[in-house]
Amino acid sequence: MIRSSAGLLILLCSALIGCGIADETEVEGPAGTPLPGVTTYESEQFFLGQALFNRAFTPEEGLGPLFNQVSCSSCHDLPTSGGHGAEPVTKVSDFDERSGCNLLKEDGGDLLQASVVPALRTAGILPERIPASATAVTELRAPALYGIGLVEAIEDGDILAQADPDDQDGDGISGRPGLGAQGLPGRFGNKAQHATLSEFIENAIRGEMGLTTPEHPTEEMPNGLPLPEGSDPARDPELQTSDLELLRAYLGFLAQPPRRTLDNPEDQAASEEGGGIFESIGCANCHTPTFVTGNNQSMALNQKSFRIYSDLLLHDMGPELADICAPGASPSEWRTARLVGLYLRSEFLHDGRARSIRDAILMHGGEAESARYRFQDLTPELQQSVLLFLRTL
Ligand code: HEC
Ligand code: HEC
Repeated sequence: MIRSSAGLLILLCSALIGCGIADETEVEGPAGTPLPGVTTYESEQFFLGQALFNRAFTPEEGLGPLFNQVSCSSCHDLPTSGGHGAEPVTKVSDFDERSGCNLLKEDGGDLLQASVVPALRTAGILPERIPASATAVTELRAPALYGIGLVEAIEDGDILAQADPDDQDGDGISGRPGLGAQGLPGRFGNKAQHATLSEFIENAIRGEMGLTTPEHPTEEMPNGLPLPEGSDPARDPELQTSDLELLRAYLGFLAQPPRRTLDNPEDQAASEEGGGIFESIGCANCHTPTFVTGNNQSMALNQKSFRIYSDLLLHDMGPELADICAPGASPSEWRTARLVGLYLRSEFLHDGRARSIRDAILMHGGEAESARYRFQDLTPELQQSVLLFLRTL
């Protein structure tokens, strides 16, 4: 009943202008496709960027000398290019209450490179190892990048409006923005440590693949040691600004996967009930269901309402989930994970430690502990409804 009347309302509204009901499906499309509203030019940029994202680089073309994988899509490939990944990426750090977060720059930095080009191996230089100075280690899994341009198109003010660093409303949930370059509020990465997609792309290109860019034309050192002569034949910078812009266009215009309708009508009805429970037990206090993008020069991203199920803020998730730190985030603080496209995945949480959605919920601690207890207090049927709901996002 409720569904058909809502459907009717949407039908009526689509005929009226300014009806006030935002249609979140406008930005949705099959995994790996561009946003439905892109122009012909934007679509061309998207597909050129996609080719670069999928391109496997060789050492002669600039790969390495230290790297993790040969292409972006080596890690972001499930179920399509731009998706999540199963390849673990090792990150290390050292945290101390007094001096804060140390990213171990002098020992090769917080991102470990697990491969070296053949020339380095010949010179006796092996892939990086976890340095003795590291007091925390994690094995991050690549998150899906679908709809990430919409995340970038949210205005800072709309994210900051949800922050409550001192928990003034007393609901046990604080939430504060991450720290990106130039002190801007961060929103990308598990520690919300990057403010813009360009910043993240630049970092991934250098850290994961060892390609130099106009802004960072020098190669990284293996565990901080100098590189042997001739181990890096490509001329620096190995990528041009135009390449970085194409990658940005690809990620910026990746469509959001659509909601899934469950085949069995009873499951579908239960999942709708689960959506209400998700809100009433406090999951939505961090997993904010929707955001609306700000004014954007691309119409495909301009003032679009979209499903996100994240406030993009950092929350203390308790000691069990604590590992590495970032300049703006303590070991136990993590950015609320976006819950869109969960049905495409089989590993959950930043390091993939949860093999089911249920396990992921049961591992919520810290600020999320009371929501977790409220979930655990539900009858098995109602818990199942919440899980079904999550499988439709
Ligand atoms: C070796 C595996 C690997 C490769 C290769 C890789 N990534 Fe990632 N990617 C990750 C991991 C792991 C994360 C999570 C990092 C974090 O939280 O700090 C990530 C996160 C991201 C994010 C942020 C997502 C979010 O939700 O905030 C973007 C954007 C991104 N990658 C783009 C790229 C691009 C562009 C390339 C190619 C230049 C690339 N990645 C190559 C593993 C990889
Ligand atoms: C205090 C904020 C907060 C609350 C409340 C909260 N979560 Fe989360 N949730 C997070 C954060 C932060 C993560 C990411 C943690 C990590 O990666 O280690 C997360 C991750 C998840 C994931 C895994 C997603 C993925 O991509 O791997 C699921 C599923 C999830 N939450 C569901 C729920 C449900 C259901 C509830 C209510 C019972 C809930 N959450 C309540 C903050 C919260």
